[in-house]
Amino acid sequence: MKILVVGAGGREHALAWKIAQSPLCRQLFVAPGNGGTEGWNVPIAANDVAALTRFAKERRVDLTVIGPEEPLTLGLADALRAEGLAVFGPGQAAARLEGSKAFAKEVLAAAGAPTARCRVFTDQAAALAYAEKAAPVVIKADGLAAGKGVIVAATAEEARRAVRDIMGGGFGAAGATVLAEEYLTGPEVSLLCFCDGETALPMVAAQDHKRAFDGDKGPNTGGMGVCAPPPVWTPALEAETLERIIRPVLAEMRRRGAPFTGTLFAGLMLTADGPKALEFNARFGDPETQALMLLLESDLVPLLLACAAGDLSGTRAVWRPGAAVCVVMAAPGYPGAYEKNIPLTLPRELPEDTAIFHAGTAWRDDDALLSAGGRVLGVTARGGDLAAARARAYALTESIGFPGARYRRDI
Ligand code: AMP
Ligand code: GLY
Repeated sequence: MKILVVGAGGREHALAWKIAQSPLCRQLFVAPGNGGTEGWNVPIAANDVAALTRFAKERRVDLTVIGPEEPLTLGLADALRAEGLAVFGPGQAAARLEGSKAFAKEVLAAAGAPTARCRVFTDQAAALAYAEKAAPVVIKADGLAAGKGVIVAATAEEARRAVRDIMGGGFGAAGATVLAEEYLTGPEVSLLCFCDGETALPMVAAQDHKRAFDGDKGPNTGGMGVCAPPPVWTPALEAETLERIIRPVLAEMRRRGAPFTGTLFAGLMLTADGPKALEFNARFGDPETQALMLLLESDLVPLLLACAAGDLSGTRAVWRPGAAVCVVMAAPGYPGAYEKNIPLTLPRELPEDTAIFHAGTAWRDDDALLSAGGRVLGVTARGGDLAAARARAYALTESIGFPGARYRRDI
């Protein structure tokens, strides 16, 4: 069959890499893709809903897999379904779980799922008055803000500044509504689930490292590396998360007439009172997916097709034993202003159980690979345990030529 992956990051390279191994996949397209997906790339932007729909229709694509949040919130899945095409990813109404944090809170509350207590404000004066008394408090922009819309405010002064920053106009419509949330503590874990609108099939849990520097210091980034599964995660925690958070949320979305199909990604905090939902994403994580695709033993395509068709019953996901680690190699300066067009040299042969996923790369004249983004490569390895996976991933970074590469040593 013909499969189209939408997106341009490391996540999409990892999905394409796994899909290409499926005997079910006869032809693969990635729109627009990156240097790692060269050969599959189609020059259509990931947010060009009309052009993507036209392409899928004209080429009779059998399955479209949507990577990033933007096309989901723009309604790409709905546009494709309206043409009778199969899609992995939620429609616009269900993607609101990621697109609006206030909506996600409303669904969590209606579902009776554990989460931080929260107040929602559209009036800046009311938000300021509440936030300064509530500190320490977490101030969040309601809408999509490319990972920059959450401010943990320790003091009343920081809380005031956070409300002013978000509501002051810099965030546009995404900041017109703010949330002031109870400050929770504990380890953070992400649980991604394949969903068919009714049931959820959990993936291996993953732990992102969002801060730029070792020891969780420095500014937030898109994600500097992932461990899967993290040492704190247990089968009991998985069962509790599915029972108290994932299934009730899926049931509530169904009740609202917006059943969720695709990947539901729950950001959790493991508090002393059990797992609580911090946020949802309506898609695969980046770089979580890079580690997860190395661990998935099963063919990914039947899982994606079952979700798209709304029936996961009879489909299983088998995972390889052990653990996987993804180390993100970024351009010097990232997450601030960073250098571009840095020449990259990759090893010709990769050791077993490893992969180098491209995030921001491009070929020049077909023979020179250059950096073309902040996060450039996701160096990923599997091992018998986390320590083995980590050692293998870091050994692989040593064989990559990437002048000035910045990466964390403590994933
Ligand atoms: P989010 O995008 O909502 O997951 O928030 C980004 C980050 O902010 C999370 O990964 C947490 O580190 C932190 N965070 C979000 N909500 C809370 C909360 N209620 N209490 C403490 N930290 C939080
Ligand atoms: N790694 C976090 C995300 O994909 O949003």
